[in-house]
Amino acid sequence: MIIIPKNIVTVDGKDRILKNQFVEIENGKIIRIAKNDEKYFKKYASGVYRFENLTLIPGFVQTHIHLCQTLFRGLADDLELLDWLQLRIFPYENAHNKNSVLTAVRLGINELLLSGTTTLLDMGTLRYQEVIFEELQNSGMCAIAGKCLIDENDLFPEFKSNTKSELDEIYQLAKTYHNTSKGKIKYGFAPRFVLSCSEKLLKESFEMKNDFVGSLYHTHSSENKNEIAEVKRRHNKENIEYFDSIGVIDDHSVLAHCIHVNDKETDLLKKNDVRVSHCPSSNLKLGSGIANIPKYLSKGISVSLGADGAPCNNNLSVFNEMRLAALIQKPIHGPTKMDAKTLFKLATIEGAKALHLKNEIGSIEVGKKADLALLDLSTNAHSISDSDESVYSDIVYSSSSDSVHSVMIEGEWKVLNKKSLLYDQQELNQKSKEELKKLLKRVKI
Ligand code: GUN
Ligand code: FE
Repeated sequence: MIIIPKNIVTVDGKDRILKNQFVEIENGKIIRIAKNDEKYFKKYASGVYRFENLTLIPGFVQTHIHLCQTLFRGLADDLELLDWLQLRIFPYENAHNKNSVLTAVRLGINELLLSGTTTLLDMGTLRYQEVIFEELQNSGMCAIAGKCLIDENDLFPEFKSNTKSELDEIYQLAKTYHNTSKGKIKYGFAPRFVLSCSEKLLKESFEMKNDFVGSLYHTHSSENKNEIAEVKRRHNKENIEYFDSIGVIDDHSVLAHCIHVNDKETDLLKKNDVRVSHCPSSNLKLGSGIANIPKYLSKGISVSLGADGAPCNNNLSVFNEMRLAALIQKPIHGPTKMDAKTLFKLATIEGAKALHLKNEIGSIEVGKKADLALLDLSTNAHSISDSDESVYSDIVYSSSSDSVHSVMIEGEWKVLNKKSLLYDQQELNQKSKEELKKLLKRVKI
């Protein structure tokens, strides 16, 4: 297959932006990037895609998503984190059955793909995690996912499992799904957050990842002031200090949020090479706060982006996260900080690095997987200057999911000409309505 775009934003080591060049794909990988050559193209009877008005970028990588929450968009607005969980999200997630999980996951995957995201780290669901894995496999997404672990729950006591069954179940799930779909699916051990997990669960799930090379540890941390006050009351430590004291943070740990973090904890993030997943829309909407991302970046701490879940955002498009992540820091740190190119990299190569997938995805280079998106930057009034540097600005500051034209994963089209090839949107919307209606009847509040 050959793709001939207007330009290629490579995000390679030199951040090259290529013009008049094509990308050749074979067996799901990029095998050649070279100057356009009509003679060469003629050898191809089919499989030559001419997108001469479109910009080719690496597929986006999101490092904190809750696919199972997608049905709950608009049903939990204008609350702070602990109320949001107690009054809405835990009761809703508790009411899931297999069909509602499946529909939520399909809705989420479709939205992610239509907005250019090809890789995600998902927080999972307490029950029916196998449904998420099966659908991720079916979709062809590149994903790290795992059962959301809860063995304590003062906020909504019905919504939990016990420590032993949680640990037994995740071992089986990891054995079944880790490194499946030719390595595209990996296991991510996912204790929900300190307030819903015993120390044993946090520690043993962390240790379990050593049995599954390439798996990750993924949790929420330091998101909300009331949350960290409760962590302090229980453990007499700040959130990240506590994680460090029980030995559950290392370079395979992804911590979502990291807003209320003191200097000592920032040093612990650096020392342990922890990966921070920044979720600016969610952080603002839940009124949680603004993470000091410029500080993390200046210290060389890994930062990547996530939309979190549909009921705290309320979108899954990484375009919102890139734009907001830049804008919210400017009044605090000055307008020269968090430039468009930095943000674009957080949403691509830095996400790949955070997940230890940088040799496979996150940039457009020979040998990497053909996880790619094509953007139409001419749909708005932007892109007139057409300079190399304006490309990042066009994407980060003035584009949206509407700019996404086509998306492929490992050389397979998932979105073509703005249409999902995976799901029928109308059918999906109809099914979502039906499943939500049934779920709301099952909710116990
Ligand atoms: N902390 C524990 N669970 C959640 C969740 O579902 N979303 C967010 N934003 N924070 C959490
Ligand atoms: Fe979250």
